[in-house]
Amino acid sequence: MKVGILTSGGDCPGLNAVIRAITRKCDQLGFNAVGIKQGWKGLFDESYISLNLNSVAGIINRGGTILGTSRFSPFQQKNGDEILKHKIAKEQFDAIIAIGGEGSMHIAQKAYEIGINVVGVPKTIDNDIYGTDYTFGFDTAVNIATEAIDRLHTTAESHHRVMILEVMGRHAGWIALYSGIAGGADVVIIPEKKTKINEIVKVIKNRYKRGKLFSIIVVAEGATFIEEEIFGKEKKSIIKQKFDDFGRARLGGVSYFLAEEIEKRTGFDTRATILGYIQRGGVPSAFDRMLGTRFGVYAVEMVRDKKFGRMCAIQSNKITDITIKLAISKLKTVDLEIYNVAKVFFN
Ligand code: F6P
Repeated sequence: MKVGILTSGGDCPGLNAVIRAITRKCDQLGFNAVGIKQGWKGLFDESYISLNLNSVAGIINRGGTILGTSRFSPFQQKNGDEILKHKIAKEQFDAIIAIGGEGSMHIAQKAYEIGINVVGVPKTIDNDIYGTDYTFGFDTAVNIATEAIDRLHTTAESHHRVMILEVMGRHAGWIALYSGIAGGADVVIIPEKKTKINEIVKVIKNRYKRGKLFSIIVVAEGATFIEEEIFGKEKKSIIKQKFDDFGRARLGGVSYFLAEEIEKRTGFDTRATILGYIQRGGVPSAFDRMLGTRFGVYAVEMVRDKKFGRMCAIQSNKITDITIKLAISKLKTVDLEIYNVAKVFFN
């Protein structure tokens, strides 16, 4: 069995743990593991590296991906289907393990539909892939965001400021919610719930009345507001004019507009911090190394068992698999029960 492995979409902590585990399990089963560089693009460029016990040694604790990644879609290229099939046949790959987020799983599904033996491994710091309780990368991102909140707390308190931390989360506010609860934020704003700015203002003023002269707000980059028209036009023209290679609007910056609005409405000094790529880079947490390793081993077992067109997943701490089709059928938005826990502290 010759197994091609690729990482596609935004990188995240834990990818190398998966690559290592796939390689080790392939070795155990006598399979030939080959790394495809820069995601699906590597197949078009015929850019491969051999993966063996030595080449994956010492990478479990490394962030990013040793294979490189990209948001290249074969299906957006002229004759993409044919080229993809030709390259896979030429290299005699028996199966492809595609490690990626939602956009990459859409590509994996299309590849499966044209007859390619694909197994999916879900990854994203956003934790928004349907059918799996967790994706690796999320836990690390939450830890980094929580530490950022801790740090913002001390400076907010010293200066009597409102501090806004903007974290990633395009359609789902998992990072904002978990880090907001763990970091003791006073308000958490997620894309799933359109928020009224005056509700945030009310919390800040209430805190002030009871002698808390600072507040911490965590906002997910994809958040929207009921009073969107206030800064919506300006926000759209500045933030949404750029697109990534999957054609998705590039986000980031909502906290700046929110800070201005809060300052205007409360009269309190307000500052915004965008955590950005800090939350996506660097050393993976033990949880993410563990999850990545379990996914990697299982993905090779799926190849062995010819479970193509399927994606591994974790449900109630058991590794299982679901169809990629089901995984991309919807997004996993935040659990409202957990959001209600966060709301207890919005006062
Ligand atoms: O991996 C998903 C994500 O973290 C989103 O939350 C974010 O919008 C996006 O990646 C940004 O990634 P890039 O700038 O690499 O396109």
